[in-house]
Amino acid sequence: MRLSRYFLPTLKENPAEAQIVSHRLMLRAGMIRQEAAGIYAWLPLGFAVLRKIEQIVREEMDRAGAVELLMPTLQLADLWRESGRYDAYGPEMLRIKDRHERELLYGPTNEEMITEIFRSYVKSYKALPLNLYHTQWKFRDEQRPRFGVMRGREFLMKDAYSFDIDEAAARLSYNRMFVAYLRMFARMGLTAIPMRAETGPIGGDLSHEFIILAETGESGVFINKDVLDQPPPPADVDYQSDLTPLISKWTDLYAATEDVHDQALFESQVPEEKRVNTRGIEVGQVFYFGTKYSDAMKAIVKGSDGKDYPIHGGSYGVGVSRLVGGIIEACHDENGIIWPESVAPFKVGLVNLKSGDAETDAACEDIYAKLRAAGVEVLYDDTDERAGAKFSNMDLIGLPWQLVVGPRGLKNGVVEIKNRASGDREEMSLDAALAKLVA
Ligand SMILES: Nc1ncnc2c1ncn2[C@@H]1O[C@H](COP(=O)(O)OP(=O)(O)OP(=O)(O)O)[C@@H](O)[C@H]1O
Ligand SMILES: [Mg+2]
Repeated sequence: MRLSRYFLPTLKENPAEAQIVSHRLMLRAGMIRQEAAGIYAWLPLGFAVLRKIEQIVREEMDRAGAVELLMPTLQLADLWRESGRYDAYGPEMLRIKDRHERELLYGPTNEEMITEIFRSYVKSYKALPLNLYHTQWKFRDEQRPRFGVMRGREFLMKDAYSFDIDEAAARLSYNRMFVAYLRMFARMGLTAIPMRAETGPIGGDLSHEFIILAETGESGVFINKDVLDQPPPPADVDYQSDLTPLISKWTDLYAATEDVHDQALFESQVPEEKRVNTRGIEVGQVFYFGTKYSDAMKAIVKGSDGKDYPIHGGSYGVGVSRLVGGIIEACHDENGIIWPESVAPFKVGLVNLKSGDAETDAACEDIYAKLRAAGVEVLYDDTDERAGAKFSNMDLIGLPWQLVVGPRGLKNGVVEIKNRASGDREEMSLDAALAKLVA
């Protein structure tokens, strides 16, 4: 992408309304635009990151055996009356009427709808286990939308729903999601810690929140700091095997949000020097809720003995849009964002130090074409801004690699490569730079 043809409305000044660093940097880097309180337009750079995150989530869900579909944002109120949640949900739910006075709502979550879909088609235990998921916009009329995309009103969530014949099978489904979550967050460069959690309005008896540590987080957390050193599960993890030993490595170590924290247990289980009390951001949550929805909504299948059983369910959410802010909270410095390569909007920022200079332009065009041909995503700064402004802009938007091409270097046959995370700079030939960036 040529910067001169792109749409990257960066800001020089710090926006006054932004209280935390990720919100500030997202506005300054031209990633989002607020359209109403807690409602954002995703500008091209922000949208590119959102899509990368969504794709990592998708790949790990698929690997774990979940099946993707897409449900609508609008739902019938009557569906929610079946579960009893239409009245229970309160003012967070956006309620709408169509031209026929039919009551609708903008979905804050999808347990009811997926249960309705499931019960319409699945009649036998033979179709189980089944895990269906989608990534769709949600609306919750939060009392205090704030911190940019971290607590929006309209936000993008991946939500998955598992269906099993009994509790034992449902726990296996829960475990598969637990492992998939550990993998997806690690792939985004995050250390997300599973913590025992309350089950909240979704209800049920087993739940973990996945939380990344950040001073700006909204949840108080208590952990044994050894959880930070647990390696993520490998890519070839066998989802058909018993995942309990893998999961126990985390769940055996104390990690709880303040809502369920037990100080006496914390002190008895965790040596003093390993106790950490800090704050964190919830990026995902997994629930097992048993037959809560299948009882209320009659999602019943025939078991192998020919008898009827209500299915045992679980739901599994990931805050896809919140993660964009969460990753920035974890990955930035005083100059701007530092994207982990896996979610970066472009891998390389190509900086032309003297646009208009024939030799420099030619060298840039050449390497730009070669990188693109090799499938490397490049943002080529071909504008006639001065060098200093180009550098600070590249640091702000945080692409993992900067490739700097100028007339002086070219005379000696070299270009410069800068690694955004380490700040290391290296001079090398154009061919060597190409080989390094394509690798
Ligand atoms: N208002 C919001 N803005 C952005 N992301 C959100 C918001 N509410 C929830 N999420 C994300 O969706 C995921 C799944 O939703 P869930 O129902 O568990 O949220 P929640 O527990 O109500 O979140 P919170 O406690 O932060 O309000 C959360 O883990 C979070 O990452
Ligand atoms: Mg939650």
